[in-house]
Order: sequence, then C-alpha cells, then structure tokens
Amino acid sequence: MSNPFLLTDRIAIVTGAARGIGKAIVETFLEAEIGHVVAADVLQEELNELAEAHSRVSAAVLDVTDEQGWRELAAATVEAHGGLDILINNAGILVFNLLEDTPPEDFRRLLDVNVNGVFLGIHTVAPHMKKRGGGVIINTSSVSGVVPNNATGAYGASKFAVRGLTRSAALELGPHGIRVNSVHPGGVNTPMTNPFGQSQDVIDKNYYFIPLQRGCRPDEVAKGVLYLASDAAAYCNGTELVIDGGMIAGQYLPGMPGSLL
Ligand SMILES: NC(=O)c1ccc[n+]([C@@H]2O[C@H](COP(=O)([O-])OP(=O)(O)OC[C@H]3O[C@@H](n4cnc5c(N)ncnc54)[C@H](O)[C@@H]3O)[C@@H](O)[C@H]2O)c1
Repeated sequence: MSNPFLLTDRIAIVTGAARGIGKAIVETFLEAEIGHVVAADVLQEELNELAEAHSRVSAAVLDVTDEQGWRELAAATVEAHGGLDILINNAGILVFNLLEDTPPEDFRRLLDVNVNGVFLGIHTVAPHMKKRGGGVIINTSSVSGVVPNNATGAYGASKFAVRGLTRSAALELGPHGIRVNSVHPGGVNTPMTNPFGQSQDVIDKNYYFIPLQRGCRPDEVAKGVLYLASDAAAYCNGTELVIDGGMIAGQYLPGMPGSLL
C-alpha cells in the first residue's frame, strides 16, 4: 500500500511562505515528496533564499489582497506544472491593541489580509481545482478564532471569519472533490509572536499556562497541515484542527489537587 501521508507529485501554493509557519509547511511538504511548491509572500529576499535552497520550490511575490496577482499566480502555476492540487492560505498579520484604541484603518487592513486574502485564494483557485477534478485547501485560522483574547479583538474577528469561510467553502466545494479545512495553532514560536528571536527556552517559560508547559514549534503546525493535505485525511472536510498544547481545551484552575500553578 502506498503511504497516504505523502504528497508525491502534487503541486501546491503556500502563502506567507517566507518565514514562520508557512516556511515550515514548505519544508514539511518537501520531506513528504511533494512535486512542486510555489512559495508566495511579500518578502522577496527570504523567498528567494528558500527557492535557491530547494529545486522543487519557486518564489512568487504575492500580496494576498491583490486579486489580479492571485489570478496571474494561479494561471502561471497551472501553466507551468499542469495543475494545482493544494492551496495553503497561511499569510496573516497580528495587531495587539484594545478595540477602542485600534485605528479603523488598522482594523480594515487586518481584515483585508487575514480574511479577504483567504477569500481571494479560495475564489481564484477553486475553479482550477474543479477542472482538475479535486484538490485540498487549508486555511490558517488560530485558537483566537475559537476562543477570543483581550487586546487582539481585530485579529480574533479575522480568525473567526476564516473559520466561517472554511466551513462555507467545505460545503460548496466538497461535492467537487475539493476538501477545505482549517488549522488553529496557538503559541507558535515565529517572528509574529517572537519578533526579537528569543530562544525556545525563554519562549517556553511564557507558556507556563498551557497544559504542555511550552510553546509550539512551527514544524508541529506544519505536520498537522501535512496530515490534512494528504490522502490520510481523505474524509476530513470542514475539519478544524486545533494545535495548541491544550491551551483552549478548557479552563485550568490553579490551586486544585495536582495543579502546577
Ligand atoms: N505564531 C502563532 O502563534 C500563530 C498562532 C495562530 C495562528 N497563526 C497564524 O499562522 C499564520 C502564519 O503566522 P506566523 O506565526 O508564521 O507569522 P509570520 O509573521 O512569521 O509569517 C507570516 C507571513 O505572512 C506574510 N504576509 C503578511 N502579510 C502578507 C500579505 N499581505 N501577502 C502575502 N504574505 C503576507 C509575512 O510576510 C510572513 O512571511 C498567520 O495566519 C497567523 O495569523 C500564528
């Protein structure tokens, strides 16, 4: 029996691929024998480094809010590789602020990247996948799209929206053989949450409140994405995969028998 966890010969687009979780997804897909990955991002230099390091990766400068850019990228990918099997809508931005202090233009920009960017990806790529007879789309939401936090109201709203978009797309595209799922990471050590590059040990101490007692590594999210992208998840559609060390499994009560807090 062939290994259902492999992506042999498949063609993928990954957005937000220049660093963090997106880059880990590209590297994990390469380990899983993917045919080719188009790594899309706004960070050209980092993308070029990634593409130079791997012959099965090409760099594509794409702002996910750019509708025309999406059309050109999807068409060029199909033209160059004969089709498109996997879309990972991973690009995102985070703003920490109280709602009353958030400038409306910041709120609009965040929704534009995190929600409109995902919509445009689905909107543009789905017709190509339909023509091919199937495909997989995975959208990166967050634990903040399941349980909101204080001071990330705009971000949480965007990640709840990604969850809703994912479910609607799963309903509309499932009959065409296209599975659409979301991942909900929490506490991942990337430039988004760790802009000054503190060590994993230091970062882990900040996550004392998570049952696993540490932060998440980008490759731990990427492995979940690999599962959903692969035939091993052939019956997963509209699935929400939480990867958070138990952060939102429930309420941890300090001072109870066995509690470490
Ligand atoms: N780090 C976490 O703890 C965490 C938790 C939950 C969800 N997420 C989500 O995971 C995804 C990846 O985040 P990350 O932690 O790797 O962050 P990151 O900042 O390291 O990477 C995000 C990437 O997206 C790119 N990007 C931003 N705006 C873009 C745009 N308009 N067009 C194209 N690319 C753009 C950035 O250049 C960057 O390379 C995001 O959607 C984020 O919201 C992260």
